[in-house]
Amino acid sequence: MSKGKPRVLATRHFPPDVEARLAANFDAQLNPEDRLYDGPALARAADGFDAIMCAAGDALNAATIATLPASVRMIATFSVGYEHVDVAAAAKRNIVVSNTPDVLTDATADITLLCLLGAARRAHEGASMLRAHKWVGWTPTQLMGTHVTGKRLGILGMGRIGQATADRARAFRMQIHYSNRSRLAPDLEKGAVFHANADDMLPHCDFLSINAPMTPATAKWVNAERIAKLPKGAIVVNTARGGVVDDEALIAALRSGHLASAGLDVFDGEPRIHQGYYDLENAFLLPHMGSATVETRNAMGFKALDNLEAFLLRGQSPPDLVKA
Ligand code: DGY
Repeated sequence: MSKGKPRVLATRHFPPDVEARLAANFDAQLNPEDRLYDGPALARAADGFDAIMCAAGDALNAATIATLPASVRMIATFSVGYEHVDVAAAAKRNIVVSNTPDVLTDATADITLLCLLGAARRAHEGASMLRAHKWVGWTPTQLMGTHVTGKRLGILGMGRIGQATADRARAFRMQIHYSNRSRLAPDLEKGAVFHANADDMLPHCDFLSINAPMTPATAKWVNAERIAKLPKGAIVVNTARGGVVDDEALIAALRSGHLASAGLDVFDGEPRIHQGYYDLENAFLLPHMGSATVETRNAMGFKALDNLEAFLLRGQSPPDLVKA
């Protein structure tokens, strides 16, 4: 152990350049096997460490935080979403929490458009047909999907990723509707139609994109009642958090044909997703890849390190402090 350096426990395997900087600046315990800790194992492993560098899906809930050793002063999550960290429980124990906002906005907005287009244009069915050697050639009626250009896109949650999604959708001449806690200033709104009540937006959505964080208010927000308010043939896209969607309701609407399709990058209970999705040809499914570019994952790691270094090496508040 290099005496004097603060100790950081990495719960996951991070990109090589990120791990190199982590190891250079801290007495770090890396996790090259990407071994997943459950709550009790994490609390045991953290013994003697000053900080935990974790990621989405790690169980830093109230129960785990209550059993963390007294040495732990900081939790730096390698993610913008932090619903896996009980920030209030951390605050009670004077544990500081940081996240990695901004740097994954573009990559996540890109994958939102991929999900939207993949769902609209039946990409899963086309790719599966080809790879199964079942393609008999071009036909005038094969795999006809939903036109995207000029359609209405409703965005639930017009933060950074919602706005970047809207910018991309404008290139498809989509008409943007949105619902957000507060209305955007005109230079950010760029002509999008604001709905103070998100329910009122639903009948205007040929496409509905979920870009809102997972909170008690958004949990299972996309339920049967709200799906029924979407026009028949609408498409639901979710690149935020799976818990915002009631899986049973979405699967039922995809089966009945009320919804044409869905493009989903995130799921409740990842990676053990609802079995019903596997049987749906009209679901374009990805394994939570929104931020998965080399550039973005490096930037997320460097941001997590900026936060750890500010707090542990310079005694400053982390720039991306998450407030309880
Ligand atoms: C995030 O940062 O919240 C992304 O979902 C990746 O974890």
